[in-house]
Amino acid sequence: MNKKLLVLWILVIPFFGIAQQKISIIPQPVSLSVQDGHFTIDKNTSIIFNKNENDLLHAANFFDAFVKNISGESLPYNVKKNKSIFLEIKKTAEIGDEGYLLDVTPNSVKIIANDKAGIIYGMQSLFQTLPQIRTNAALEVPCMKILDYPQFKWRGMHLDVCRHFFSPEMIKEYVDLLSEYKFNTFHWHLTDDQGWRLEIKKYPKLTSVGAWRADRRGIPWSESRPTQLGEPTPYGGYYTQQQVRDIVAYAKERNITIVPEIEMPGHSAAAIAAYPYLSCTQQPQTTITGGVYPKNFESNYCPANDSVFIFLENVLKEVMQLFPSKYIHVGGDEVDKTSWKNDPKCQALMKKLGDTSEDQLQSYFIQRIEKFLIANHRKLIGWDEILEGGLAPEATVMSWRGESGGIQAAKMHHDVVMTPGTPLYFDHYQAGPAGEPLAIGGFNTLKMVYDYYPVPKELDSSQAKYVLGAQANVWTEFISSREHLEYMVLPRMLALSEVLWTPKSEKNYKDFYHRLQNQFIAFEEKGFHFCLGNFTVAIKPSSENGKLMVTLSSEIPEAKIYYSLDGSDPDINSILYERPVQIDSSLTLKTVTVINGRVMGVKPAEQKFVMHKAVGKNVTYANPVSRYYPADGANTLTDGVRGTVAVNKYWHGLQGKDLIATIDMGTGTSIQNITIGCLQHYSDWIFLPQSVSFEISNDGINFTNLGTVENTISPDEKSAVIKDFSLDFPAQKARYIRVTAKNLGVCPKGHPGEGKPAWVFADEIMVN
Ligand code: ACM
Repeated sequence: MNKKLLVLWILVIPFFGIAQQKISIIPQPVSLSVQDGHFTIDKNTSIIFNKNENDLLHAANFFDAFVKNISGESLPYNVKKNKSIFLEIKKTAEIGDEGYLLDVTPNSVKIIANDKAGIIYGMQSLFQTLPQIRTNAALEVPCMKILDYPQFKWRGMHLDVCRHFFSPEMIKEYVDLLSEYKFNTFHWHLTDDQGWRLEIKKYPKLTSVGAWRADRRGIPWSESRPTQLGEPTPYGGYYTQQQVRDIVAYAKERNITIVPEIEMPGHSAAAIAAYPYLSCTQQPQTTITGGVYPKNFESNYCPANDSVFIFLENVLKEVMQLFPSKYIHVGGDEVDKTSWKNDPKCQALMKKLGDTSEDQLQSYFIQRIEKFLIANHRKLIGWDEILEGGLAPEATVMSWRGESGGIQAAKMHHDVVMTPGTPLYFDHYQAGPAGEPLAIGGFNTLKMVYDYYPVPKELDSSQAKYVLGAQANVWTEFISSREHLEYMVLPRMLALSEVLWTPKSEKNYKDFYHRLQNQFIAFEEKGFHFCLGNFTVAIKPSSENGKLMVTLSSEIPEAKIYYSLDGSDPDINSILYERPVQIDSSLTLKTVTVINGRVMGVKPAEQKFVMHKAVGKNVTYANPVSRYYPADGANTLTDGVRGTVAVNKYWHGLQGKDLIATIDMGTGTSIQNITIGCLQHYSDWIFLPQSVSFEISNDGINFTNLGTVENTISPDEKSAVIKDFSLDFPAQKARYIRVTAKNLGVCPKGHPGEGKPAWVFADEIMVN
């Protein structure tokens, strides 16, 4: 047993007693009953089905290939044997589309479904009870009865093959994984700024130029400069139309529809490098290699040039010949419309159309493409930005900037696929981040994915039906190898499979986690790379009624939590966590997850607390804090927790408005210093306040200004800065403290958000 497997077994052993008696299928079937005995598959087992049904022949081949792979034996078809596997497609009301009935007795296996998809899924459930790699052991399927069907129609996984290219073999492995866990949609992100990956016969330069770039591996993505003129472009790749046909057919056999994404009107720098006439300026440009876009680089197609639409329609014609999918994804996200603002042709077109904003020009663009797709009997799907400036009449919206775009679209009776960044971006961290491979940011753990539900509370039942399902997205700026890709999706995609397939009432994280242990063994056998889970203890402060309490929790159901308050690295001799911990002084809490007496994870989670007179006191705001930055709740500014430059955790943020916070100290308290911590994070539109003023009051109505502290750091400073604005004054008593951090107002000249509302961020108001 290799070392890694040994570690895995240590982890699995506590649960394995349970796993052995139980059948651990993921996603959990709607109804499953296990009986005594088993059915043994050997070379005398025949697969029986109606020879006239081609779908069943394909399904039988799929079954046979699996068995041959693990046993080396092929199974006879339609030969009378004592023990047989029966496949049947017949009208069965209780299971619907994609559902199946699986009945295993010692002498027979029956799989019945309304369609081929159901037959395949019945097989996938059965396969999960068998070994996954070549074995000489008997192939014993436990006797069981399953009735099963999905909760959602769109069960998707996405993959960006533009930021890094993945081989056709890798795509097939991905498709296999999707099918194993009963996903039915593969969203293939085929074009973007850093690469065009699909052969288009009419436009060969899309791949001879647009699929290749200078090799900048080893250079951080954010510093990776475009290919220089004359520089070799060895890095990249593309799929030939023949390879695509092969992959589409392979996917179809496994009930996976591939939805191709051809991005427009933005994220199109690779196409423009190949054919400069597609942009507004029509200037030549080299291929982008990463995150650096120098001035004058064009990412957008020009909407005021009919040749652009002729090009796109020709491209889409070839796309539709390759992909039978009803949906064609046209992107539509993150279009920086500056080039349209600066282009007289675009401005003239806007005038002609009566448009008052460039968003409407994007809407014109998307609507024109939608007409073309509808005329070709296809449906347009795009990212939620396609709502801005007016949604195309029949468009389906993929909601990624949270769920609000999806909610808006469903209320307008448009179909929706939910794919909110939190928790469904699988390029985000799933654990750590200490000890984890570098990720783009964010933190979407296994449990966060498991707890997700695609239908938001805001929708009533007449609107909820427009939510087709959900999808996880895998952007690959930071993912360039097969191993890393596997690691980012395993096991989070298994959690999502259960979100989309299993009835909400049947979901149970603890049970899922136990079933997952068997999947880990299978992953290990197959040589897959995967994350064992998030062992980082979550530290949640809450400040109420003058007290600072800290709750600790772990995602691992049977884990124990140990912590220390003296700065030492905790182990099993430290304090066992049993109830929320009260913090009374400035200190660092460190904490670990322990399984079976073993400390898990690479580093303890830790949190520093600063004690001051306002800790635990209630805070009210004159302007509301953005719901995107709730931090730890209403009293984040008095929870003793300082922020870090990661913007999404400990900070309260307001956009375009001043932060005006009033603290009720409870009684007249003697104070002589007030300090507020603020953040500047240029790339996230967050700027230090212009100034901060400090006031006190005894009645909460009449305030005395103690002084104002001006900002001394330029808004053009691009590196992240945390600055404390602090005022000392002669000691005095006051019940109320009011702190006003004056928002910069709008993003400064030269900033990508120039003239748009700026954010002001604060983490703590410290009173001494
Ligand atoms: C996206 O993540 N830009 C859709």
